[in-house]
Amino acid sequence: MISLKKPVLLPALATALLLAATVGPCPARAQSAADEGQKLAFDRSKGNCLTCHEIKGGGMAGNVGPALTDIKKKYPNRADLVEIITDETKRNPLTVMPPFGRNHILTDKEIDAVVDYLQTL
Ligand code: HEC
Repeated sequence: MISLKKPVLLPALATALLLAATVGPCPARAQSAADEGQKLAFDRSKGNCLTCHEIKGGGMAGNVGPALTDIKKKYPNRADLVEIITDETKRNPLTVMPPFGRNHILTDKEIDAVVDYLQTL
Protein backbone atom coordinates (compact mmCIF):
# COMPACT_ATOMS: atom_id res chain seq x y z
CA MET A 1 0.00 0.00 0.00
CA ILE A 2 2.71 2.51 0.98
CA SER A 3 4.63 1.97 -2.24
CA LEU A 4 1.61 3.29 -4.15
CA LYS A 5 2.13 6.78 -2.74
CA LYS A 6 5.60 7.26 -4.22
CA PRO A 7 4.60 8.00 -7.83
CA VAL A 8 2.17 10.63 -6.56
CA LEU A 9 4.70 12.40 -4.36
CA LEU A 10 7.58 12.57 -6.84
CA PRO A 11 5.85 14.64 -9.53
CA ALA A 12 4.66 17.05 -6.83
CA LEU A 13 8.23 17.47 -5.62
CA ALA A 14 9.50 17.92 -9.17
CA THR A 15 6.90 20.64 -9.80
CA ALA A 16 7.88 22.45 -6.61
CA LEU A 17 11.56 22.39 -7.59
CA LEU A 18 10.77 23.61 -11.09
CA LEU A 19 8.77 26.55 -9.69
CA ALA A 20 11.56 27.46 -7.29
CA ALA A 21 14.04 27.50 -10.18
CA THR A 22 11.95 29.69 -12.53
CA VAL A 23 10.78 32.32 -10.04
CA GLY A 24 14.21 33.75 -9.36
CA PRO A 25 14.95 37.24 -8.00
CA CYS A 26 15.14 40.11 -10.52
CA PRO A 27 18.84 41.08 -10.23
CA ALA A 28 19.84 37.49 -11.00
CA ARG A 29 17.69 37.53 -14.11
CA ALA A 30 19.19 40.87 -15.26
CA GLN A 31 22.66 39.43 -14.74
CA SER A 32 21.88 36.35 -16.80
CA ALA A 33 20.45 38.54 -19.59
CA ALA A 34 23.75 40.49 -19.65
CA ASP A 35 25.69 37.21 -19.75
CA GLU A 36 23.53 36.03 -22.62
CA GLY A 37 24.10 39.40 -24.33
CA GLN A 38 27.86 39.01 -24.05
CA LYS A 39 27.65 35.57 -25.63
CA LEU A 40 25.59 36.97 -28.51
CA ALA A 41 27.96 39.93 -28.96
CA PHE A 42 31.06 37.70 -29.07
CA ASP A 43 29.48 34.91 -31.16
CA ARG A 44 30.91 35.17 -34.68
CA SER A 45 27.70 33.88 -36.25
CA LYS A 46 25.41 36.17 -34.19
CA GLY A 47 26.35 39.71 -33.09
CA ASN A 48 29.93 39.37 -34.30
CA CYS A 49 30.55 42.79 -32.71
CA LEU A 50 34.25 42.04 -32.14
CA THR A 51 34.91 42.12 -35.88
CA CYS A 52 34.54 45.91 -35.68
CA HIS A 53 34.63 46.86 -31.98
CA GLU A 54 37.10 46.38 -29.17
CA ILE A 55 35.20 45.06 -26.15
CA LYS A 56 36.71 44.29 -22.76
CA GLY A 57 37.37 40.54 -22.51
CA GLY A 58 37.00 39.88 -26.23
CA GLY A 59 39.94 38.69 -28.35
CA MET A 60 40.92 39.41 -31.97
CA ALA A 61 38.93 42.65 -32.10
CA GLY A 62 38.83 44.92 -35.13
CA ASN A 63 38.80 48.71 -35.09
CA VAL A 64 36.33 49.59 -37.84
CA GLY A 65 34.02 51.04 -35.17
CA PRO A 66 34.86 52.78 -31.88
CA ALA A 67 35.87 50.70 -28.84
CA LEU A 68 32.76 49.95 -26.80
CA THR A 69 33.65 51.45 -23.43
CA ASP A 70 31.70 53.64 -20.98
CA ILE A 71 28.57 52.87 -22.98
CA LYS A 72 26.20 53.44 -20.09
CA LYS A 73 27.67 56.93 -19.57
CA LYS A 74 27.60 57.71 -23.27
CA TYR A 75 24.08 56.36 -23.84
CA PRO A 76 22.18 56.56 -20.54
CA ASN A 77 18.93 56.07 -22.45
CA ARG A 78 18.68 52.36 -23.34
CA ALA A 79 16.26 53.10 -26.21
CA ASP A 80 19.16 54.81 -28.02
CA LEU A 81 21.21 51.61 -27.82
CA VAL A 82 18.29 49.52 -29.03
CA GLU A 83 18.01 51.90 -32.01
CA ILE A 84 21.73 51.73 -32.82
CA ILE A 85 21.74 47.95 -32.83
CA THR A 86 18.38 47.54 -34.55
CA ASP A 87 19.26 49.84 -37.44
CA GLU A 88 22.27 52.18 -37.26
CA THR A 89 21.57 53.31 -40.84
CA LYS A 90 18.79 55.49 -39.38
CA ARG A 91 21.42 57.59 -37.56
CA ASN A 92 24.05 57.23 -40.22
CA PRO A 93 22.92 56.08 -43.68
CA LEU A 94 26.54 55.39 -44.68
CA THR A 95 27.45 53.20 -41.68
CA VAL A 96 29.02 49.80 -42.25
CA MET A 97 27.41 48.50 -39.05
CA PRO A 98 24.83 45.86 -39.98
CA PRO A 99 21.18 46.66 -39.11
CA PHE A 100 20.85 43.68 -36.75
CA GLY A 101 17.11 44.15 -36.13
CA ARG A 102 15.99 45.19 -39.59
CA ASN A 103 17.93 42.31 -41.18
CA HIS A 104 16.76 39.82 -38.53
CA ILE A 105 20.32 38.91 -37.59
CA LEU A 106 19.21 39.27 -33.97
CA THR A 107 15.66 38.98 -32.57
CA ASP A 108 14.20 41.79 -30.42
CA LYS A 109 14.85 39.62 -27.38
CA GLU A 110 18.47 39.08 -28.38
CA ILE A 111 18.93 42.83 -28.96
CA ASP A 112 17.53 43.45 -25.48
CA ALA A 113 20.10 41.05 -24.00
CA VAL A 114 22.93 42.71 -25.96
CA VAL A 115 21.80 46.12 -24.66
CA ASP A 116 21.73 44.77 -21.08
CA TYR A 117 25.31 43.67 -21.65
CA LEU A 118 26.40 46.98 -23.26
CA GLN A 119 25.12 48.81 -20.20
CA THR A 120 27.60 46.89 -18.06
CA LEU A 121 30.51 48.25 -20.15
C1 HEC B 1 30.94 45.79 -39.77
C2 HEC B 1 31.37 46.51 -38.60
C3 HEC B 1 30.50 46.57 -37.37
C4 HEC B 1 29.89 45.55 -36.68
C5 HEC B 1 29.89 44.06 -37.02
C6 HEC B 1 29.26 46.14 -35.52
N1 HEC B 1 29.46 47.48 -35.51
FE1 HEC B 1 28.82 48.79 -34.08
N2 HEC B 1 29.59 50.35 -35.14
C7 HEC B 1 30.32 50.25 -36.30
C8 HEC B 1 30.74 51.57 -36.73
C9 HEC B 1 31.58 51.88 -37.97
C10 HEC B 1 30.24 52.49 -35.77
C11 HEC B 1 30.41 54.02 -35.76
C12 HEC B 1 29.11 54.73 -35.94
C13 HEC B 1 28.53 54.65 -37.32
O1 HEC B 1 29.15 54.12 -38.28
O2 HEC B 1 27.38 55.10 -37.49
C14 HEC B 1 29.51 51.68 -34.78
C15 HEC B 1 28.90 52.20 -33.65
C16 HEC B 1 28.39 51.45 -32.61
C17 HEC B 1 27.91 51.98 -31.36
C18 HEC B 1 27.95 53.44 -30.94
C19 HEC B 1 29.31 53.61 -30.25
C20 HEC B 1 29.65 54.99 -29.78
O3 HEC B 1 30.68 55.10 -29.07
O4 HEC B 1 28.93 55.95 -30.09
C21 HEC B 1 27.51 50.93 -30.60
C22 HEC B 1 26.94 50.97 -29.19
C23 HEC B 1 27.72 49.74 -31.39
N3 HEC B 1 28.25 50.08 -32.60
C24 HEC B 1 27.42 48.47 -30.96
C25 HEC B 1 27.60 47.32 -31.73
C26 HEC B 1 27.21 46.01 -31.29
C27 HEC B 1 26.60 45.68 -29.94
C28 HEC B 1 27.52 45.16 -32.30
C29 HEC B 1 27.25 43.67 -32.37
C30 HEC B 1 25.86 43.27 -32.12
C31 HEC B 1 28.11 45.94 -33.37
N4 HEC B 1 28.14 47.25 -32.98
C32 HEC B 1 28.58 45.42 -34.56
C33 HEC B 1 30.63 49.08 -36.97
C34 HEC B 1 30.20 47.80 -36.62
